[in-house]
Amino acid sequence: MVQLTLPKNSKIKPGKTWPAPAAGKRLKTFKIYRYDPADGGNPYWDTYQIDLDECGPMVLDALFKIKNEIDPTLAFRRSCREGVCGSCAMNIGGRNTLACTKGIDEVGGNDTITISPLPHLPVVRDLVPDLSNFYKQYASIEPWLQTSTPLPTEEIKQTPDDREKLDGYYECILCASCSTSCPSYWWNGDRYLGPAALLQAYRWLVDSRDEAKTKRLDALEDPFKLYRCHTIMNCANVCPKGLNPAKAIADVKKMMVERA
Ligand code: SF4
Ligand code: FES
Repeated sequence: MVQLTLPKNSKIKPGKTWPAPAAGKRLKTFKIYRYDPADGGNPYWDTYQIDLDECGPMVLDALFKIKNEIDPTLAFRRSCREGVCGSCAMNIGGRNTLACTKGIDEVGGNDTITISPLPHLPVVRDLVPDLSNFYKQYASIEPWLQTSTPLPTEEIKQTPDDREKLDGYYECILCASCSTSCPSYWWNGDRYLGPAALLQAYRWLVDSRDEAKTKRLDALEDPFKLYRCHTIMNCANVCPKGLNPAKAIADVKKMMVERA
């Protein structure tokens, strides 16, 4: 498995170390990236120790414990707590994943778990990345059904075989773990659409009910939008839903060749 580490940044200095709970028996240390652009300062790492006997099993449980009982200023996103909304994606122990489905005991390394925001995105605050460009790129692939023939009165039928072609793609929760683990996206995120948006583009390209295939492929025929994928495979290695964006991208490239 690929371990993704943050680029070394000498400006990230140690911050405050919060005291361990006095009666704690099963202590775990969490080193957490802190940054508030509004205060004009540099980022820093705060360190918290919590007693795992007094905490739920997931990394998100630890973040809640820190926020609710130790340091209410810590900022992070979450909603469903079930691996469905994608909002709690962050870099945990050097790997992009979902805090709500990652068990504290599953994180490798030593006794300290390091948590930082998804890499190579602007930071809104602490563990909250700015996903504006990511969502703009998702919108650019026009993620909705497009037809030109008159619609039937009730529904557009689809065979079980055609429906099956969407498996492995419709499950994407747009957490951005894949795109922000991709070096091509790090360096060209303004022009390369990245694995998540391209997987979604493929999901519509293979939908038997959609009639905009030519237009969709025309929109992707671009040296940067699609062809900056170099099959590094970090996307497939980190996806917390077990999806394979690299395969979707390869299949879009194949469609381009076959229509040429
Ligand atoms: S493909 Fe996987 S990692 Fe990428 S956005 Fe979708 S769910 Fe997240
Ligand atoms: S809180 Fe929804 S995926 Fe983690």
